[in-house]
Amino acid sequence: MHSPEILIVDDTPLNLDVLSSLLATFRLRVVGDGATALRMAQQEPPDLILLDVMMPGLDGFEVCRRLQADPRTCEIPVIFITSLGDHENETMGFEVGGVDYITKPFNPMVVRARVQTHLELKAVWDALRDENARLESRVEARTAELQAALDRLRESAVDTVLRLGLAAEYKDDETGKHVMRMAHYAVAVARQLGWEVEDLDRLFHAALMHDIGKLALPDSILQKPGPLDAAEWAIVKRHPILGARILSGSDSDIIQLAEAVALTHHEKWDGSGYPHGLRAEDIPLVGRIVAICDVFDALTVRRPYKRAFPLDKAFSIVRQSSGSHFDPAVVQAFFAAESEVLRVHHRYGDDSPDRPLTPIVFAARVAHPSAPHFLAPEIASIDDTSV
Ligand SMILES: [Fe+2]
Repeated sequence: MHSPEILIVDDTPLNLDVLSSLLATFRLRVVGDGATALRMAQQEPPDLILLDVMMPGLDGFEVCRRLQADPRTCEIPVIFITSLGDHENETMGFEVGGVDYITKPFNPMVVRARVQTHLELKAVWDALRDENARLESRVEARTAELQAALDRLRESAVDTVLRLGLAAEYKDDETGKHVMRMAHYAVAVARQLGWEVEDLDRLFHAALMHDIGKLALPDSILQKPGPLDAAEWAIVKRHPILGARILSGSDSDIIQLAEAVALTHHEKWDGSGYPHGLRAEDIPLVGRIVAICDVFDALTVRRPYKRAFPLDKAFSIVRQSSGSHFDPAVVQAFFAAESEVLRVHHRYGDDSPDRPLTPIVFAARVAHPSAPHFLAPEIASIDDTSV
């Protein structure tokens, strides 16, 4: 049990002796001037201060004001004990923050009783404050737990949708690395555009879901070995809207970003893309970034029904499409990221042994399954290169 300590402040040694004898059952510190009392209280706060008013240097009222102004000492109860018995000084004593005011000559019993009362009040106050702090820290801990649970829930929701996006890639028989390369390219380009790491992380995951709308397309079209007819292309071209519909209404920022990517990755800078024929900066930047990366990757990979374009030819097509298919600023960023694009291309080439979903630049926030990718069933021109 905490034994209360009292600091007695008086410039008259006789008064210090009398009060010390009177309060001998408590732990006591005595001091003869205000400045020293203030310093002692700040260094090691007592449970109560008995404070004379008239002292050389700092008077008792000023000491009390300074105690009140200091967060280290503002909760120490101060009892003035003084020969100044007029109402004006008594009022002043309470105004500067004293909890009691005893005039000399005093009745020893009264002093002991009032000291005891204020020590008990102080003990109750301390206990309440400690209990509040304990409750606050419990609430904080519980809030952190709930937040962590919510984060896990959100991550698992994102993970689920991510896996759906990857499931869409399984709908043809490709190697499974297109979507991974494409997401890495997108990150490399966005980094050149000055994006922060957190935004790159979101883009990476969102890009993995860009073709989730293919889940809603018939396998007979997606896996058709020959060219698509006009009616089949019309169906394929619905996948951005279908994807956006699958991803809509989420409160996850990743899924919201993925919705924008899914809807706009086939729009073109000159307005000739689909599904809405958006033009220039009406197309969200994420859609403009993913558009280049999706097409570039489709151009550079070998498929049973087509040879891979040489890399220089693929780069040349991207450059030639600046201002028509692609946003010139994003094309510029793509070329600024050329060395990273090439590194990703080689590391995640279809013949490479790397797991397709092992991120280069991130510690993945969610566990990714390995998954194959989807590529257009027919590649006749750049327009048909990526779907
Ligand atoms: Fe697509």
